[in-house]
Amino acid sequence: MELILDSAVIEEVEEIASWGVLDGVTTNPTLIRRSGRNFEEVIRSIAMVCSGPISAEVTGTSASEMVREGLDLKSRLPENVIIKIPCTPAGLSATRSLADQDIGVNVTLVFSVAQALLASKAGASYVSPFLGRVDDNGGDGLKLIENISETWKNQGITGCKILAASIRSVHHVEMCARLGVHAATIPYTIFTELMENRLTEEGLAKFLKDWEAVRSEGRA
Ligand code: E4P
Repeated sequence: MELILDSAVIEEVEEIASWGVLDGVTTNPTLIRRSGRNFEEVIRSIAMVCSGPISAEVTGTSASEMVREGLDLKSRLPENVIIKIPCTPAGLSATRSLADQDIGVNVTLVFSVAQALLASKAGASYVSPFLGRVDDNGGDGLKLIENISETWKNQGITGCKILAASIRSVHHVEMCARLGVHAATIPYTIFTELMENRLTEEGLAKFLKDWEAVRSEGRA
């Protein structure tokens, strides 16, 4: 499973990239707003440390505006930027147009199997079902991921990756991997929690203490 960071904070991207496990980054207008920085500056600085796909979202609402923005972003931003487009009828049309020009598209704000299927038909490289927001609204986000995953297998869909988004917990990440989705975009705090384990910390502390004893006895 591709591990993607859902962040527009360059320090967070740098830290996770330094672990050697970062496959890409997703941003959205809310994350850009929270970063307090200029949109293009953020995307360019992320591209300095991440060679995988970086999702940059369009903000137009008509197909022609989205296509125009997508082409403009592709012409000005680093090569590995892909265009994030909302799952609306206009978004599907823009996805088809950009995909036909060999531009990678991540269709975002997907909340059903039907939307995911249509996004894949329109030529998206990634579809992003928002599992946390489904949970927030009283639904079962992991069930949605499972249903989309099953659909992909049964329909033999290969050109479009399922990118689980709106991840809220380590459990979500683990279940996405178990369900066989291609990618998950994970907020920084959850990314760090993936590595936390009390037994690892306690085990390491004991190893270091015992090694100190070995050294003080002149045996190392
Ligand atoms: C995905 O690409 C989105 O940026 C993100 O996962 C949204 O998550 P949220 O529901 O936590 O805002």
